[in-house]
Amino acid sequence: MDIQHPDLHQLYPPHLSTLKARADKALLRGGFDHLVVAAGQAAYQFLDDRPYPFAVNPHFKHWLPVTKAPGSWLVYTPGRKPKLVYLQPHDYWHVVPEAPAGYWVEHFDIVIIRDAKEARAHLPNDAARCAILGEANAALDGFTPNNPAAALDYLHYQRSYKTAYELAMMRVASKLGARAHRAAEAAFRAGESEFDIHLAYLAATRQTDNELPYGNIIALNEHGAVLHYTELGHAPPAHAHSFLIDAGASFHGYASDITRTYASAEASEFSALIDAVDAAQRGFCTKVRAGQSYPELHIHAHHVLAGILKDHGFIRMSAESAVENRVTSAFFPHGLGHPIGLQVHDVAGFQASDSGGTIPRPAGHPYLRMTRVLEPGMVVTIEPGLYFIDMLLAELKAKPAAKDIDWTKVDAFRKYGGIRIEDDVVCTDGEPENLTRDAFAAAG
Ligand code: GLY
Ligand code: MN
Ligand code: MN
Repeated sequence: MDIQHPDLHQLYPPHLSTLKARADKALLRGGFDHLVVAAGQAAYQFLDDRPYPFAVNPHFKHWLPVTKAPGSWLVYTPGRKPKLVYLQPHDYWHVVPEAPAGYWVEHFDIVIIRDAKEARAHLPNDAARCAILGEANAALDGFTPNNPAAALDYLHYQRSYKTAYELAMMRVASKLGARAHRAAEAAFRAGESEFDIHLAYLAATRQTDNELPYGNIIALNEHGAVLHYTELGHAPPAHAHSFLIDAGASFHGYASDITRTYASAEASEFSALIDAVDAAQRGFCTKVRAGQSYPELHIHAHHVLAGILKDHGFIRMSAESAVENRVTSAFFPHGLGHPIGLQVHDVAGFQASDSGGTIPRPAGHPYLRMTRVLEPGMVVTIEPGLYFIDMLLAELKAKPAAKDIDWTKVDAFRKYGGIRIEDDVVCTDGEPENLTRDAFAAAG
C-alpha cells in the first residue's frame, strides 16, 4: 500500500510566505539585511577520508525539502525572491546531489555551482550585514556563520508553530513509521533477533539508518530497561518475553518519533501493565490542548503512573506519597516528551518568549525537555514509561520508601525491561490530532 502524499504544490507557497515573514522579523530584531543559511559541510573522520553521515542544517531544510546538499547556501533578502546557491560538484567518485526539481523550485532563483568555494561570489558582499546561520565549518573566505542570538531566538520560537505544509510532512513521516512498526512487530512475533527486527523495520520504511531521524531502539527483554539501547543483538534470545521499539521515519526532513511495547503471548502479567500504560498515555494525549502547561502534564503523568504501580501491586504507599518521595522517578526516570519537527528533539522547548529566556524545569525533573504552555500548531511527543532499571532500583532500595515496595513483584518484572508508549500529537484550536494513532489506524 502506498502512502498518499499531500498536495505539496498547494501547501508549499503559504509555508514559504510564513518563513519569509518570520525571517523579515528576525532580521529586524538582529539589525541585519540578509538571512544566509549554510546547508553545512561534510565532516571527515580523524586522519581519514571518510565523512561522517551528513546532517543538513535544520534552518536550511525548513525552507526547502533538500537534505542532501552539503556546500549549498540559501540567501533571503526581504522583498526579494530567495536564492539557492546549489552545489553540484564535478565529481565522478560520488553521486552528486540531484538537479533541483519539484514543487519548490519555481520559488527560488537557483545558481548552480561546481565547487564549494564558488558560493562566496553568490553570497552578499558585506558579511557584517548578514545573519549567517550554520556550523563553524561552513565558513567561506571571511563569510563565517555568526548565528546571532536575536535572530535565532525569534526563529526558534516561531518554529514551534508548524505550518499546514509541515503538518502534512509529519503525517507522512508518521505513516512511514507506523507501517514499519507493524513490520517490526511481525518480526518480533516470528522470534527474530534485534538485528533482524531492525532490518525488517528499515525494509518497511525504505530508509537507511542515516536517513532515519534517530537511531532505532530495538530492545528485547531486559534491554528495554536501557532508555537509549542502540545495540542490536544478532541472535534471538531463548525466550523473547517483551519487545520495546522506539523508531521513527523521515519525510522531506521532518521526523516522526514512535514507541510501542509488546508482550509475548505467555507474558499476560506484563501485557496487563502495557495496557494500563497505554490507557494512561491516551489520556495524556487528549490533554494536548491550547493552554495546557506541559510540565504540569508531566507531573500529572507521575501521579497517574503511581496509581498504576499501586493497582498492579508494585507499591503499597499512596500515589501522592510515591510521587512526593520520588518513587515514581525510579520507574519513570525521563520526561513526558519534547517538541518535534525538523529535529526529533526540536528546538525551543524551554524558551520563554521569541526574544529568548528560559522556563526552568520543575525541581526534581532534570530530563524534561519541554516547559512551555501548549499552543495551537505545536507538535509534542507524549511518551510515558515504566521501567525496571537495576541501577535506579538499587538506589530506591536504600530509601525509607523501600519498605512499601513489593520487591518480589518488582524483581519478577526485571526480565521484561520496561514499557514506553510514544505518540506525536498536534495541539490545535480544539481536539488534539494524534499523528501516530491516526497513522497506525491507516496502516490497518
Ligand atoms: N527516540 C528518542 C525519544 O523518544 O526522545
Ligand atoms: Mn521522543
Ligand atoms: Mn522515541
